[in-house]
Amino acid sequence: MAHTRQVAYLNDYDVATVQVDRFDVKNLGSDTAKVQISRIEYSPEAAEKGAFPHFMLKEIHEQPQTVRNALRGRLDLEESTARFGGLNMSTAELRGIDRVVIPACGTSWHAALIGEYLIEELAHLPTEIEYASEFRYRNAPIEKNTLVLVITQSGETADTLAGLRESRRRGHKVLAMCNVVGSTIAREADGGIYLHAGPEIGVASTKAFTSQVTVLTLLAVLLGRIRMLSGSRGREIIRALEAIPSQMERILAQNDHVRRIALKYAGCEDFFFLGRQYNFPVALEGALKLKEISYVHAEGYPAAEMKHGPIAMIDEKTPTVFVIPTDSLYEKTFGNLEEIKARKGPIIAIATEGNDRIATKADEVIHIPATIEPLNPLLAALPLQLLAYHIAVARGCDVDKPRNLAKSVTVE
Ligand code: M6R
Repeated sequence: MAHTRQVAYLNDYDVATVQVDRFDVKNLGSDTAKVQISRIEYSPEAAEKGAFPHFMLKEIHEQPQTVRNALRGRLDLEESTARFGGLNMSTAELRGIDRVVIPACGTSWHAALIGEYLIEELAHLPTEIEYASEFRYRNAPIEKNTLVLVITQSGETADTLAGLRESRRRGHKVLAMCNVVGSTIAREADGGIYLHAGPEIGVASTKAFTSQVTVLTLLAVLLGRIRMLSGSRGREIIRALEAIPSQMERILAQNDHVRRIALKYAGCEDFFFLGRQYNFPVALEGALKLKEISYVHAEGYPAAEMKHGPIAMIDEKTPTVFVIPTDSLYEKTFGNLEEIKARKGPIIAIATEGNDRIATKADEVIHIPATIEPLNPLLAALPLQLLAYHIAVARGCDVDKPRNLAKSVTVE
């Protein structure tokens, strides 16, 4: 990056010879090498840690800006909808979709689960998410008017790429939601949406997740507005999205508060993360963040599932992180929280500003600003990322390069 912003992407079986002043590409397969030079749009500083001790912490703090980037140029306030440049689908084609299938892995799969809730609620389109590693070998029936949407930060995940190729082989149109411009998946898809989050270098995905959820919200609004979603609801969602970056800044200002909580619980070996509806995928994501960078056992569940078995594991040494913003299921979730408290489980609650009652039951409270229900994940994810980060640092773990993990999983 310090030397050039020009890049040539290699295809399968391409071999490049690089010399001081030139390079050549040959294809060892049957194709002739097609070399195309692209320009990298981000600055060299974007790929450096700057004043932050770790890339992960830097990327967590970049989220107000990366969400702004994901929204830029995509809001149509006049029509109360969203627009995307690269879908390569007409309104009539989008209108003709009667089902959506989303293959993805890891954090991208968690974003996809939020996408399922969003698309079903806002566009009334049946949506299914698939682990890409299962989808690629499962002979899942996919009807003619199904849209396949793959979600991947890197655009290089082997299972997701295989899912894309298999779907295209069967004649389906495949859209890709990627962060890395020019990645294999971005190049092979029929159309796509870029996240514009800039390079994500920490192995634990943070800013890509919130960008994925932002873009999925816009896509759900677009699909909804050509169906039954009213203009006033579309406008309400867009307005609430525009407020997210400054609301994120307020959460990030609580970094020291989250760190103090992290230090108190850093010695615990088991955690639960619970939430309901839109907050359930956030709970899964919070558990994954903690597992991958601190090697602490953590499980995410829909809060009401606990009583079907896992609650047996609750004791005074097993903290539960509750994602419990003020929403339509708040009272029910509060009941689930009381069930954990009654078993002496310590509780860390992520609750909406102004909710003081939660402190009567929870041992620790991290407040997030109020937003509309479908956007709570965009805010609730941040304290969980910070919590995982500070616990990992307190345990002496290598946050940016956790053991056994690679940033991009390009093998099966
Ligand atoms: O690049 P992708 O989004 O396709 O990557 C998928 C997963 O490998 C990735 O999200 C992984 O789970 C991260 N380490 C999560 O933080």
